[in-house]
Amino acid sequence: MLNEAGRSRVLGAWAVEGGGAAGSAAGRPAATESALLPVYAQFPVRPVSGQGSWITDDQGHRWLDAYGGHAVSSTGHSHPQVVKAIADQAAKLLFYSTVLPHENRERLATELARRCPPPLSKVFFCNSGAEANENALHLARKHTGRVPVVSVTGGWHGRTVACLAVTDGAKYEEGAKRAGMPLSRKIPFNSMDNLERAINPTVAAVIVEPVQGMSGAIAARVEFLREVRRLCTEHGVVLIFDEIQCGVGRLGSFTAAEAFGVTPDIITMAKGLASGLPIGAVVASPAVTTTITTGDLGSTFGGGPVPCAAALATLEVIDDEQLLANVRAVSDHLVAGAKQIKNVVGVEGRGLLLGLRLNRPAAPVQKALFERRILTGTSGDPTILRLLPPLSFTRAEADLLLAALTEVLA
Ligand SMILES: Cc1ncc(COP(=O)(O)O)c(C=O)c1O
Repeated sequence: MLNEAGRSRVLGAWAVEGGGAAGSAAGRPAATESALLPVYAQFPVRPVSGQGSWITDDQGHRWLDAYGGHAVSSTGHSHPQVVKAIADQAAKLLFYSTVLPHENRERLATELARRCPPPLSKVFFCNSGAEANENALHLARKHTGRVPVVSVTGGWHGRTVACLAVTDGAKYEEGAKRAGMPLSRKIPFNSMDNLERAINPTVAAVIVEPVQGMSGAIAARVEFLREVRRLCTEHGVVLIFDEIQCGVGRLGSFTAAEAFGVTPDIITMAKGLASGLPIGAVVASPAVTTTITTGDLGSTFGGGPVPCAAALATLEVIDDEQLLANVRAVSDHLVAGAKQIKNVVGVEGRGLLLGLRLNRPAAPVQKALFERRILTGTSGDPTILRLLPPLSFTRAEADLLLAALTEVLA
């Protein structure tokens, strides 16, 4: 599955696993049948190791990863500094719950606050992107005492019930409705029309991805975000930036908020924050956390010593290897190169969250790249090929990708 929705159109023909129906008569899966619920479309390759932008499969073949494990492998696969931090912490203390303070959790909160635009400085840790958004929405509703949320067309925010309710698409909304969750009001992304009417004093929060991942790496217009910010401030509405896919350096600055020059009240992060260990973070302005007290939010595993060690090492690698500058340089190179390729009709997105708009369906192109052992993503837009490689992707790797694309699209 190389998109969030699990609806890659090519998979029927070449998926090899995960599609098992019911188990055998004895209630156990047959030996050849997967015991996994068939919720993911998958590509027929089994990774066994990885380094930088490359993974190696069980046949010993190397694959160029322009998909980054779905934007998670931010520092590249199995970065030695991250692996060492995980191993060292695991050997010292694998886990203790939030009932005891831990240095890693506190240091990571301080480091995130330092990297987020002021005044965002209050941090809550959880384990995934959906959980971060769920907690952000919960916080906004508690702070405002209001229920309605505004989100945007094309927005994608995760699979918990509260996240489904703010995600665009009938299939997701159905899931929220079945659970009795009030749906958000969806306003057209990037349109200034009727903003004033939608963002009013009855609304608890607006949630928006500054660059929409699932939609095909579609960037917000700065004027749109500015006007949303202005109206949220005017009406006491909490503005949430879902930076789960576009944050943690992916746009060439640590936060997407910085890249757009617009500061929300809450930023949510996950995916690349710990280079592959599960973590989610809510970073909020103190003003929206004044009502929060012991027991209002919580998570057994959230902010555990090992994921926090991995995240601290990830931040160190981003600094030490100047990955933000690398993202900007390699992005410029990729965009310029892609624009030269016949049949690429546009490039969406920013940094290393890019959508190549093709004059044809993207799925067969993705498949042709796969046959050349290059992993890429698709999106909700059938003509967009999505690229989300590690932040450490090199110019040489970008050239390999561009050369393969030129061949495939010729
Ligand atoms: C923008 C965005 N928000 C939220 C999520 C949900 O994150 P998770 O799968 O970690 O729950 C995703 C996942 O793809 C995402 O891209």
